[in-house]
Amino acid sequence: MGQINRRSFLAVSAAALTLPDHASSTELPALGPLARAAGLEFGSAVGPWLWREADFRAAVLRDCTAIVPEYEWKWDYLTRAGRRTDLEPIRRYLAFAEKNGLALRGHTLVWHGAMPHWYPAAADRQEALTLMTGHVTDLVGSARGRVRRWDVVNEAIEPADGEPDGLRRTPLLAQIGRDYIEIAFRAAAAADPTARLVYNDYGLGASWGAARRDAVLRLVEHLVERGAPIHGVGVQSHLAAGDGYDGDGLAVFAARLREMGLEILVSELDVSDTARRGAPDREVAAIYAHYLATVVEIPNLTAIHTWGLSDRHSWIRAKAGAENERPLPYDRAMRPKPAWEAIAGALRRRAAEHGRLTS
Ligand code: G3I
Repeated sequence: MGQINRRSFLAVSAAALTLPDHASSTELPALGPLARAAGLEFGSAVGPWLWREADFRAAVLRDCTAIVPEYEWKWDYLTRAGRRTDLEPIRRYLAFAEKNGLALRGHTLVWHGAMPHWYPAAADRQEALTLMTGHVTDLVGSARGRVRRWDVVNEAIEPADGEPDGLRRTPLLAQIGRDYIEIAFRAAAAADPTARLVYNDYGLGASWGAARRDAVLRLVEHLVERGAPIHGVGVQSHLAAGDGYDGDGLAVFAARLREMGLEILVSELDVSDTARRGAPDREVAAIYAHYLATVVEIPNLTAIHTWGLSDRHSWIRAKAGAENERPLPYDRAMRPKPAWEAIAGALRRRAAEHGRLTS
């Protein structure tokens, strides 16, 4: 597969896209049954718009077999009113998922990007340990047996920080030490032995991601050697038009995880066209098609989760100058785009290969 440049996958994948520009969603099969036939979860990050918008909710129920709270299960959001953890968002998504037969992926327990506003900048080790393990225990325990997967630690790798093992320099690393990650996984497993526990990070499929892949593998190998309860790795997959990705690198990374008995998830898939203003929907869809053609060949792949279902709510559009980006399978009017068909095509392909890949 090698390094994929824009020209090659435009040529290869564009022809694969047969969807007219704005097909009605009633004319198309849903992604949910395709995912089940493929033996995969297909899901999406969701937010409070799930409750407010009937058309968005209908698409989730039609297409998704799993949902991921995009920000409402994060430590900062759950403690936005103070030190007490607000468990209402947990209860609300649990009720919706269970009523509709959807799996939940809890995102995310420990992330430097979502620390409570009151978290002490200079906690000593014991205080940091008590706060972190208390948060993990309370949150995971509150949903014991009801959340299929938890992103236990998110984005703990940053080779550019210069640490010998590639760990990101965060307050928890400084205050607790390098074992904070193992401690978080063990606390999550103690609170819910039934949950699948995932390490989640970005850049792992990127053409510039070799150092990140190596550092994540070192971290995961260390956790596995220590007997820590880790079950999988989330490859966020925030792709960009004009950028390439490393299909071979990703396949080797996934194979190494498989040797350790771990699953791999595409955990936050979207395709930004920031670098190429206004890249047409077909170009964005060609990136989905080509990336997923690599991904669905990975035997230990268990889930494809997009980071949103509709351009109406993409985090990318919250960035300055990106208001008109179209990174997701549905447009703002909830009409499926060529990217939707690209995902459907990948699920169909996996379904056809399911037996061979998972035997
Ligand atoms: O919806 C509220 C709105 O009512 C309120 O007025 C406003 C101001 O407080 O906040 C709005 O919520 C914001 C939410 O995005 C929706 O826009 C939250 O404050 C804001 O924190 C949240 O940002 C999220 C970000 O992570 C930080 O948690 C993004 O939605 C989410 O897409 C982004 O996701 C991350 C993954 O967790 C990890 N990987 C990278 C990815 C993208 O940054």
